[in-house]
Amino acid sequence: MWPSILNLACVFLVLFSSSFSPLLGDPRISEAGILCLRSNVSSTANVLSSVLDVMLKITAEVTENRWANDSVTSPLPEIYGLAQCHGDLSRDDCLLCFVQSRNILPRCSVLESKSGRLYLDGCFLRFDYYNFYDETTDPQHDMVKCANHSNFPADQQARQQFVDKVDRVLTNVSAVAPENKGFAVFEEARRGGVAGVYALAQCWNTLDRKGCRECLANAMIMARNCTPGDEGRAMNAGCFMRYSTQRFYTVPTDGDSSKLRIIIAIASSVAAATSLIFISAYVGYRKLSKKREVQKKLFGVPAIVRKLNLNFNYESLEKATDFFDDSRKLGQGGAGSVYKGILPDRRVVAVKRLVFNTCQWVDYLFNEVNLICGIQHKNLVRLLGCSIEGPESLLVYEYVPNRSLDQILFECNHILSWQERLNIISGTAEGLAFLHGPCGVKIIHRDIKSSNVLLDEDLTAKIADFGLARCLDPEKSHLSTGIAGTLGYMAPEYVVRGQLTEKADVYSFGVLVLEILSGRKNSVFGQVSGSVLQSVWKQYKSNGLAECIDPVLKGTFPVSEALNVLQIALLCTQASPDLRPSMSEVVEMLNNQERMVPVPTQPPFLNNNLIPDDSSRSLR
Ligand SMILES: *[C@@H]1O[C@H](CO)[C@@H](O)[C@H](O)[C@H]1NC(C)=O
Ligand SMILES: *[C@@H]1O[C@H](CO)[C@@H](O)[C@H](O)[C@H]1NC(C)=O
Ligand SMILES: *[C@@H]1O[C@H](CO)[C@@H](O)[C@H](O)[C@H]1NC(C)=O
Ligand SMILES: *[C@@H]1O[C@H](CO)[C@@H](O)[C@H](O)[C@H]1NC(C)=O
Repeated sequence: MWPSILNLACVFLVLFSSSFSPLLGDPRISEAGILCLRSNVSSTANVLSSVLDVMLKITAEVTENRWANDSVTSPLPEIYGLAQCHGDLSRDDCLLCFVQSRNILPRCSVLESKSGRLYLDGCFLRFDYYNFYDETTDPQHDMVKCANHSNFPADQQARQQFVDKVDRVLTNVSAVAPENKGFAVFEEARRGGVAGVYALAQCWNTLDRKGCRECLANAMIMARNCTPGDEGRAMNAGCFMRYSTQRFYTVPTDGDSSKLRIIIAIASSVAAATSLIFISAYVGYRKLSKKREVQKKLFGVPAIVRKLNLNFNYESLEKATDFFDDSRKLGQGGAGSVYKGILPDRRVVAVKRLVFNTCQWVDYLFNEVNLICGIQHKNLVRLLGCSIEGPESLLVYEYVPNRSLDQILFECNHILSWQERLNIISGTAEGLAFLHGPCGVKIIHRDIKSSNVLLDEDLTAKIADFGLARCLDPEKSHLSTGIAGTLGYMAPEYVVRGQLTEKADVYSFGVLVLEILSGRKNSVFGQVSGSVLQSVWKQYKSNGLAECIDPVLKGTFPVSEALNVLQIALLCTQASPDLRPSMSEVVEMLNNQERMVPVPTQPPFLNNNLIPDDSSRSLR
């Protein structure tokens, strides 16, 4: 029986962030080599959007086929991309490796006209400004990485036997791979005091047999140079080859451990994704002065910002926030820190300094979130404008005077009455329904949680931080541009598969409502039995309604109403997305006392058997 997968994910997140332990199973996302090369293209206009374009197409394809190549040839410059997982990775493992590589690749900044090649131990990702698909070797840039452990066999004969053994396995995979869709593994066991040797060869699928053979022949010579070291990797333009005295590839028979690996990898990619949420981070961090120059030259102020007069002056915002003085700091979110600002006309605003310090990011934010439908809703924090011409990008929001819901619920002594709680729940539901609904583009918030719900003077809920929001393209319900969000609030299908639909927000909303009702935080670090989701479900099943509701209310709430809201929350946290109601249905159920609230049939996400398997893919 599995404990909550989220708890596990969290535990591993902690383990993982310190160091990777091979004991836990190797997702093969460790970095083997990265190469950023300055190209000779002179204009960087269009590059970012073309790269994004290519990456999005590749993402969709890798999910299906475990490899992809795609290109954009106009507008110039041309951009070519290639992603390839090694043949032994399952589809899920492949996706995780790819997500990880996509998180790392932005180190090669396209704004400096750099191309990038990234070799992880399980996959490869490259983008460049010319068609490299038939490139087998690149003598100037191909890499080799040897592990030099000093435990070489001491005597000359044993050493020679080891070298010969490496030779044999490398020769074997070099011969087999071209005939086997570009992939081969081979091992020779330990014998007579000479270590066992494991080898893997992988050609990129854009090469034909001849190209693959050529590339591997070269890689073999390179890798062999690592002997008698106990590990060697050759990283060529067209292929990857590795030998090791450890078995590092996946043996096709293991069943259960791959689930574990997936979780670990996801946990780590959550960690990575939190810091590098979206590909627009391609721009990377660079010297401010230089950036300012580049920014101006490249983008200027987006037309839409000029047109709607949303442009704020950087210097005036600097002054308004007392030069971003710490005493003005209101909070720190995933997308940047927020400061209180007082404009010359006495207006009080909240100013967010973006971590993603790029115009493109702002542009995205504007296009996606605010301007397309001029979002204004009483339950959404309003964006007033931005400043993108200064040395860093700033967003200006309306100032919401009260604190965030999590502070009021869990930190203050302020006790929210039943009616106040209900209003906050309704307001949040309406704000979310609005995002999901009527404005033509569906927007998924992706990070609904108590600290992202702000409260104004009369405790009206306002949803903040669209930093992670993405529009939902109806074509791409499996959009997985990186996993982002907060563990504990994240829908199981999103954590495990990266499947993102608006039902993921519905799930997070359900968790939020359970927190508001119970006055307890859904801690993912607590003991398994400590999760609010689980305890409320248990109490609900045993008809212990009163126990579910925050004891500080001392029973002063209408019982039938409380039961309804509780049931709605449980409906929202059902494991299968299809069983969860839409946000507009939630709003209706909350507002219309007459309406029957269906009885939730599925417990909230308790163990991994309940991860919906609605696609043909399985976790294996
Ligand atoms: C850039 O380099 C490529 C290959 O080295 C070459 O084919 C191309 O003509 C060069 N382009 C420019 C603008 O120099
Ligand atoms: C590995 O280290 C030994 C000494 O520790 C040195 O003699 C040898 O040249 C090194 N080999 C490689 C491939 O770096
Ligand atoms: C590689 O090893 C496999 C498995 O032992 C064997 O069947 C095959 O003949 C070998 N191929 C070559 C070219 O050595
Ligand atoms: C993918 O690579 C092949 C060559 O292997 C090429 O023919 C094809 O045009 C490429 N696809 C794209 C979209 O560039």
